[in-house]
Amino acid sequence: MKKSLLFPSMLALSFFASAQTAADRQKADLLLRQMTIDEKIGQMTQVTLGVVAAAEDGVLDPTALTKAIKEYKVGSILNVTNHALSVDQWKKVITLIQDEAGKSRLKIPVLYGLDGIHGQTYTLDATLFPQNIGIAATRNPQLAAAIAKVTAKELRASGVRWNFAPVLDCGRQPLWSRFPETYGEDVFIGKTMGVGAITAYEEDGLRNPTAVASCMKHFIGYSASRTGKDRTPIYLPEIELREYYLPQFSAAIKAGASSLMVNSSEINGTPVHASKYLLTDVLRKELGFQGVVVSDWEDIIRLHTRHNVAATPRQAVVLAVNAGVDMSMVPSDFSFFTLLKEAVQKKEVSITRIDEAVRRILLLKLKLGLFDNPYPEPAAAAGFGRSEYKTLALQAAHEAITLLKDEDNILPLSGKPHILVAGPAARSISALNGCWSYTWQGKDEHWYPADSKTIYDALSDKLGAEYVRTTTVTGFDSPANYDTSALKAAAEGVDAIVLCLGENAYAESPGVIPDLALPEQQTVLARAAASTGKPVILVLTEGRPRFITSIAPLMKGILLAYWSGRKTAEAISDVLTGDYNPDGRLPYSYPRSSGDMVLYDRKPTEDIREIFNSDMTMDGYRPLYPFGWGLSYTKFDYSGIRLSNPHLKPGGQLTVQITVTNSGSRDGKNTVELYTRQHYASITPNTRRLRAFKKISLKAGESQTVTFTLSPADLAFVNAQLKTATEPGDFDIYIGEKTAEFDYSAAP
Ligand code: BGC
Repeated sequence: MKKSLLFPSMLALSFFASAQTAADRQKADLLLRQMTIDEKIGQMTQVTLGVVAAAEDGVLDPTALTKAIKEYKVGSILNVTNHALSVDQWKKVITLIQDEAGKSRLKIPVLYGLDGIHGQTYTLDATLFPQNIGIAATRNPQLAAAIAKVTAKELRASGVRWNFAPVLDCGRQPLWSRFPETYGEDVFIGKTMGVGAITAYEEDGLRNPTAVASCMKHFIGYSASRTGKDRTPIYLPEIELREYYLPQFSAAIKAGASSLMVNSSEINGTPVHASKYLLTDVLRKELGFQGVVVSDWEDIIRLHTRHNVAATPRQAVVLAVNAGVDMSMVPSDFSFFTLLKEAVQKKEVSITRIDEAVRRILLLKLKLGLFDNPYPEPAAAAGFGRSEYKTLALQAAHEAITLLKDEDNILPLSGKPHILVAGPAARSISALNGCWSYTWQGKDEHWYPADSKTIYDALSDKLGAEYVRTTTVTGFDSPANYDTSALKAAAEGVDAIVLCLGENAYAESPGVIPDLALPEQQTVLARAAASTGKPVILVLTEGRPRFITSIAPLMKGILLAYWSGRKTAEAISDVLTGDYNPDGRLPYSYPRSSGDMVLYDRKPTEDIREIFNSDMTMDGYRPLYPFGWGLSYTKFDYSGIRLSNPHLKPGGQLTVQITVTNSGSRDGKNTVELYTRQHYASITPNTRRLRAFKKISLKAGESQTVTFTLSPADLAFVNAQLKTATEPGDFDIYIGEKTAEFDYSAAP
């Protein structure tokens, strides 16, 4: 009954959508026919707000704005001048910009873009959620989607319809300063969470005031820097690129991502902004991407100034546009406009290529409804700052937090303990939120919402101020925070020490570090805390894993909170006191030391070493904590694995079932992860690959059967011919400690 009612309206919707698309195409073509070369090149030009703004934040410079739009016909603007603006300031800024665009000959609206990386970064009081690395730890794609929806609404309420997110770079190099922006080391998690976010950003239809255009980034391989330093060379064999870095983008394209940003770095000596192979052959022809490709910050001119593959600035523009970049994030001047115009006049870039790029940009603007109404929409205003967003932020932080160690069940803290909260992160807000938090670097606490709590605040509020003391002062780096004598003295008479270490906020190049080791003064503090004889619970708020190998044995409990947004402190205190039973799972292998950076999906030779001397140790995979690790205050038991059939055939499916029982005394959530291993293959098979996961909630004593369906495509890998293929053979399945076997073959 329901179906028959729904069916005609769905048909009508899809008919309407395709009629809309056809109308948008016609309109884009009509505009293109009317446009001068200047107007076209202007559409391909994106500048930063500073180019059209006055010195005072949130205020525009009318003369500069007119120059940008009238003279240079700029089609897109991004960023802030300094820090987040209020919703009202954004409304004024966007309104003035669109007013100016409305005065232009063809009245083409401006497309404004911002980085809403973990919530809407650049609007004051917007809700910030865990960074992607924390989202990956939640193993909850529905949560990732719900967060993306809120981000979309808060962007749109600010009058902004283009979000430079999600980051789809695979986090396989923990030194990389943008590691926290990634979904960690696993391809399947990256694909699943990325698709969840993109769908949520766009599924309502871009004309709807609850949607924004997504921008998957940074195509491709950006995270694989050899040194771990941001924007330094990547050497990536194509087989590896296709196995670990491409699937996230190809899944995102299928999910309908509207735009893409390019990797600032070089791969195998070719800057990606100059790679026609990657930007046209792979992205367009092979993956079928039809949306807008935008450069990253200043990256076209850098083909000349930094990469030295273009002898002149104009050649840089020619290389990038011919490789497939549609829009240049110039962003601080109009050089791109002038140089591209010259290049077109000299026939170094064809009009066909220009028209192709401009058509894509116009289509995106049309799809976003900017031609119908380019102004901040009253209907979107209600989408800002709703109280349920804070509840969602708390849920996300709860589900991200990963309990790494709980010796003698020290956690949750029982009764009404007296605690000392120490360490540089104990009274920091920025160290709980990280990059892209009201400012680019996220360090300036002045701009955080007034209700933001530190770990010390949250614990004092929960336990009562008389139970909580601290030696920490505000300012992560304040010398007092590293005073070991003060810490030892304050520990007198307490039941436990909560030691808050990790990383203060950073983004991009300013976050480059020479070493993953935790700064020496933090390990000294940890030793001092342990020397008091009091149980020490280490709380880590960090964007990437810093080595804690030498201090971990001294800690009774270790809680990894990542950078989990606005409610990180409350979530930490809930986990410490047992008001929340932790369920986060490590999205990366927590490394032990620099010589042991082995990832979970390692090759057999990383496990099985050549033994020459009988006393030689076999290292293999021995991270401090493995990928997928995460303790709970309850206990989950897994039954044996049940397979529908031990033989999988081409076109067939395999049903895998396991029953999970919460045999402990507390309710809790558990993520069931299914890994496979192929015994032998034409190229060395991975020792493990995550193929599916499901997060379930179980009351104490409750059981649930979890069902997964595997098809041959789920077992595929990239072969020596660079094709993604599934080969016949024997396979193991691993779920927790349980295993089962099946084979895949075409034979009857
Ligand atoms: C970053 C991008 C970001 C852009 C605009 C660049 O520095 O690499 O991820 O979208 O700035 O803010």
